[in-house]
Amino acid sequence: MKFLWGSATSSYQVEGGIKNDWTDSGMDAGKASDHFNLYENDFNLAKILGHNAHRFSLEWSRIEPKEGEFDKAAINHYKKVIKALRDRKIEPIITLWHWSIPIWLKDKGGWENEETIMYFLRFIQKIIPEFKRVKFWITLNEPEIYSMNSFLRGLWPPKKKNIFIYLKVRKNLIRAHKEAYKIIKNINSDAEVGISKNNVYYEAGSNPLDIFFKNIISWWWNFNFLNKIKNYQDFIGLNYYFHNRIKNLRFNQNDNNRVSDMGWEIYPEGLYYVLKGLKKYNKPIYITENGLADAKDKYRSDFIKEHVEWMKRAIEEDVNVKGYLYWSLIDNFEWDKGFEPRFGLIEVDYKTMERRIRDSAWVYKEIIERG
Ligand code: FCB
Repeated sequence: MKFLWGSATSSYQVEGGIKNDWTDSGMDAGKASDHFNLYENDFNLAKILGHNAHRFSLEWSRIEPKEGEFDKAAINHYKKVIKALRDRKIEPIITLWHWSIPIWLKDKGGWENEETIMYFLRFIQKIIPEFKRVKFWITLNEPEIYSMNSFLRGLWPPKKKNIFIYLKVRKNLIRAHKEAYKIIKNINSDAEVGISKNNVYYEAGSNPLDIFFKNIISWWWNFNFLNKIKNYQDFIGLNYYFHNRIKNLRFNQNDNNRVSDMGWEIYPEGLYYVLKGLKKYNKPIYITENGLADAKDKYRSDFIKEHVEWMKRAIEEDVNVKGYLYWSLIDNFEWDKGFEPRFGLIEVDYKTMERRIRDSAWVYKEIIERG
C-alpha cells in the first residue's frame, strides 16, 4: 500500500447539528463547519489538494440516539461519506470514538461506568458489519488526554476532578480497546485496528532529579497505555503536538521561540524522537494527527515541511511510518476553546460556511507530490 497522505477531522468538531454530552454541558458546537451537509464539497477540495487518505469519526449520538436504537439514516449517511471518499480515491480511516458520547450514555455515567465498555462493544458490533470494506479502524482517540481533561482537570464533560475516577476511566478505556480489537478482527480479519495515541517529546537537562522525573512521566504518558494494549493493535496511530522540557522539576520550560495561536510551541524535531520511541513496538505507525492553530497561516507551511522532514529522517532510520495526516482538513470547533483556534488547511467562514484554501495547503500538496 502506498504512503497515506491526507488530513483528519472528528464528527463533533466539524459536522454540526449534534446533540451529545458536550452540548449537554454547555459546549455546543452548533452548526460547527456544516461538514454534515458539505462533505462532498470538502472532499473535492481534499482531492484537489492531492490527499489520498482521510481520517474522520462516527458520531455515536447520531447512530444510537436512544439506548439500543440504531438510526438507519445516520448509518446511511456515513456510508455515503465513505463512498464519496472512495469515489475520489481517498482511503477512509475511521475513528469509532472521538471523545463524544450520546446523552443517554452520559446519564449512565459515561466512561466512568464499567458498563459503558459493553455499550461501546455493542455499538461496534453493529457498525463493523455495515462498513465491511473499510480497512483502517481507530477505536479510541487520545484516551489519555480525554481521561485527564474530563476526569482529572475538570475541563471537559463530565468535568470531574478525581484521580481515582481518572484511573478507573483509563482502565475502562484500555479494556474497551482490547475487546473492540477482538470484535473487529473477528468480523473482518482484513481490518487494521489501532488507537490514536498522543505522545509528547519529553526532555530534561543534566539534573538527575529532572531525568528521573522525565523518565517516569514519559513512561506514564507515552508508554503505559500502549504497553497494556500492545498485543491488540495492528498499527500505532500517533498524534504529535507537544514538546515538554523539564527543568527543576517543572514542566514546559521550553524556549517558545515559535508558538501557535494557542501558545503551543512549534517543535518539529520532537516528532522524530517520539517516532524513535515507538519503534520498539515493531508496528507500522500512521501519524494520525499533527497540526497547529494559525489563523494567519504564518507558520503552517514551514510547520508541515519541517515535521515531514523529521518524519523522513525517522523513516531513514528504519521507523516504519506509513502515513501522515494533518490536523485538520477544515477549521473546526476546538472543544473548550470554541471556534477561535484555526487548524484548517482550508479556512471556514462560519457566517456563510464558505471555504477558502489556505496557501499552506498548496505547499502541503507539493510535499505530497514529491512523496
Ligand atoms: C487533538 C484532538 C483533536 C484536535 C487537536 C487539535 O488532541 O485529538 O480532536 O482537537 O488536538
